[in-house]
Amino acid sequence: MQLLDQIKTNKIVPVVVIKELSDAEPMLRALCDGGLPVAEITFRTACAADAIRLGCEKFPEMLIGAGTVINAKQANEAIDCGAKFIVGPGFAAEVAEVCRERGVLYLPGCVTPTEIITAISYGLEIVKFFPCSNYGGLGTLKALSAAFPTMKFLPTGGISEENVLEYLAFDKIIACGGSWMMKGTPDEIKAKTAKAMALVK
Ligand code: 3PG
Repeated sequence: MQLLDQIKTNKIVPVVVIKELSDAEPMLRALCDGGLPVAEITFRTACAADAIRLGCEKFPEMLIGAGTVINAKQANEAIDCGAKFIVGPGFAAEVAEVCRERGVLYLPGCVTPTEIITAISYGLEIVKFFPCSNYGGLGTLKALSAAFPTMKFLPTGGISEENVLEYLAFDKIIACGGSWMMKGTPDEIKAKTAKAMALVK
C-alpha cells in the first residue's frame, strides 16, 4: 500500500514519545497488537533516532515516521534510520528541502494562511494542523479549507476518542494525530489503541 493510503486507511497517527530505548519495542508492539501499525516517533528524547531504527528493523510492516523534526540534521538522521515520513511542529524550509531531495513525505505544522502558502510554495499538499485545539480546532480548519480547497490536513493536539470522529468526518482531514492511546503500560496502550481503532473503522 502507498504511504498516504496507509495513513488514510489507519485514520490515526499515534504521537509516540520514547524515553528509554528499551521502551520502544513494547510500545510499538502494543500499537501493532491494538491494530494500528503506525507511529510518529518524536525527536524530543535522546533515543528517538535509535528508536526509529529499532522500530523499522523489528516491525517492518509498520509505517514509522519521525515527529518534532525542526532542522535538516534531524530530518537526515531520521531518514537514515528508516523514517518513512517527517512531521514537524512548524514549517522549516531546510527540512522541506531535505525531504524533497530524499523523496520523503513532509508534514509540517501550519496554522495560519501564510504558513500554508509557504507549504504550498514547496509543493506540499498536506500539512499538520498543530496544536489543533489551541488554534481553534475544526472551526479554524474549515475556515482555512475554504481558502485552500486543495489542502489536506493532519490535525494534532487535543484530539481524543471524544472528538476524533467529528474531525474525521471532515473530508479535508486525512487522519488525526494524537497521543491519547500512548499512556500507561503496553497492555493499556494496546487496549486504548484497539478501542480507538474500533471507533474509527
Ligand atoms: C504532540 O505533539 O504532543 C501531539 O500534538 C499530541 O498532542 P496530544 O497529546 O494532545 O494528542
